[in-house]
Amino acid sequence: MTCFSSADESAHYGFSVCMLLDQYREQLRWEDGGVDELGTGDATAIADVVRSLPGLHVHSYDISGPSVEKARANIAERGVSDRYTVELGDFFDHADSAGGVPARTVISNPPYIPAPDRDILMPELWGGVRGNDLLLQLLKTGYDNVIAAVASYSDPEGTVRTAEDLGYRVVNFLAMALDFGPYSNEPKVREHIRRLCAEGHGWAGEDGYMVAVALFTRDADLPGDRGDQLLRALQV
Ligand SMILES: C[S@@+](CC[C@H](N)C(=O)[O-])C[C@H]1O[C@@H](n2cnc3c(N)ncnc32)[C@H](O)[C@@H]1O
Repeated sequence: MTCFSSADESAHYGFSVCMLLDQYREQLRWEDGGVDELGTGDATAIADVVRSLPGLHVHSYDISGPSVEKARANIAERGVSDRYTVELGDFFDHADSAGGVPARTVISNPPYIPAPDRDILMPELWGGVRGNDLLLQLLKTGYDNVIAAVASYSDPEGTVRTAEDLGYRVVNFLAMALDFGPYSNEPKVREHIRRLCAEGHGWAGEDGYMVAVALFTRDADLPGDRGDQLLRALQV
């Protein structure tokens, strides 16, 4: 097992989470109960967010032992161990049993690599056959607000429509073009992505794809209904 590593993607995730948490601070009220995170990785991006937003507490989970070890060292190095905690384990086994005031918001750059099976370069990044299994599971977990990365080749339309069926709206998002990295460039994965896109389940270009970090909400106090705009930004 290795630790997820993709500098551009992590930077986009961290920057976007910071911007959305700050912009919608009043409505998200993350000072009460903090924020949960699915998938810590090496923690660098969100540790910088925690450092720049005093009052933010993040409780994170990762199933990868090496990631958790690296994450704890990076968090300590940035001096935010008291406000950014990491546990080894499956997010879905632990999130609702943490005790205390439950978080209303969850953040995630979830595993979204689509492939026929889990036998890929980093199996922890497998997102199911269409790539959006974990994001759909996260939307069904019951948080009022979900801030998550949505990849253009991982059936984004299925994600947005399922979110709508569950009562969520897309409040806002930040989109960025990314080059195919080592995980999506694996021949088995690239071929699967090509097939999914040809079948109408997403978009990918010759060399890359789009990722948007979107805020989904079920809170009536948060205006915005930008699901269709999100899909257009992802070239769908
Ligand atoms: C795409 S990486 C993102 C890492 C980090 N947030 C970043 O953006 O740099 C997804 C992470 O989710 C972790 N993961 C996968 N399934 C998980 C699960 N069920 N519970 C907790 N973490 C999980 C993987 O080990 C991986 O570190």
